[in-house]
Amino acid sequence: GKSGYDHYMLKEIHEQPTAIRKCLRERVNELEGTVTVEELADLECDGPVQFVACGTSYHAALYGAKMLQERGIPAQCFLASEYDVGKIPITEETLVVGVTQSGETADTMSALRAANRVGATTLALTNVVGSSAARECDHVMYIRAGPEIGVAATKTFASQQVALAMLSSVLSEESSMEFVKRLRDLPDQIQKVLDEANAREVAEEYDGSDAYFFIGRGYNAPVALEGALKMKEISYEHAEGFAAGELKHGPLALVTDQTPVFAMLAGDSNLSKTLGNVKEVEARDAPVVAVTDSPEEVGQFADHVLEVPDAGPRFTPILANIQLQLVSYWVANQMGRSIDKPRNLAKSVTVE
Ligand code: M6R
Repeated sequence: GKSGYDHYMLKEIHEQPTAIRKCLRERVNELEGTVTVEELADLECDGPVQFVACGTSYHAALYGAKMLQERGIPAQCFLASEYDVGKIPITEETLVVGVTQSGETADTMSALRAANRVGATTLALTNVVGSSAARECDHVMYIRAGPEIGVAATKTFASQQVALAMLSSVLSEESSMEFVKRLRDLPDQIQKVLDEANAREVAEEYDGSDAYFFIGRGYNAPVALEGALKMKEISYEHAEGFAAGELKHGPLALVTDQTPVFAMLAGDSNLSKTLGNVKEVEARDAPVVAVTDSPEEVGQFADHVLEVPDAGPRFTPILANIQLQLVSYWVANQMGRSIDKPRNLAKSVTVE
């Protein structure tokens, strides 16, 4: 059941500390500062990595690819529906990672099958034991989020992010005390966000807006995309997410005093640049909601602040995403939407 929550989505948002604890269990060693993923013991990878995924899982892949790149591993992301092994460089050295919560998404499955046919190594990053992706790939890593009933992916996105962080460490054979400690601290930090969240007030403030925009840079860029997807999926309102730097290459034309802009300023290592983008939207009178671990620095540029703890550049965006999940939930709730089963959507998309 819903354990007293009005919707599965809200329940699953609140399950995130537990989901992340399960995802990390017996995989991180805080005393030694190491990461070991048992399922991947015989995975060998010296080549480039290609991620294939759809929707929210694609956003997790974008985030994961950045972590691989930071560790010196060439990584690319493909929307599974656009993946064409006939047109891209792929060899037996390539590791193709399918990021798929259900393990049944048709587009992702055909991309993985195509990769198998050309002899690449395949890895499924999935939540569902025994799913098609788990069965058909050479390797599987489970995200261990537990069943997710709400069509909107919430806890599974956070679990994918954490699993991808561990995968980046396994593939690069790099870890550190600090990295492992940051991972171990996440469940408590997520709990703090959930306990102190003022997202509902912010959602109430911007009811009836023309559109919602989400911007972020670096690790925050995929979170901006995910924030917008969640908003449109459950509130049916127009929402768009983009890399902060893209703002002045087009989207700025849409910004008015009726379009709140959610600025992800969470562990941003280029904070002053992103603040520059925030000033651009402010000059067009757009309301600004800063999602940040640095309220002292950014508060003066924002109409509202959604605060998150500092989890470092890699992981603070995971916390920022929790705030965005809550904002979308409360906007959709206020509008009386069918939150757990949004119109026109299915939990598992089994047709191409
Ligand atoms: O099961 P998968 O992760 O392969 O599903 C992919 C998408 O259909 C899924 O993430 C979808 O975008 C979510 N409903 C978004 O909340």
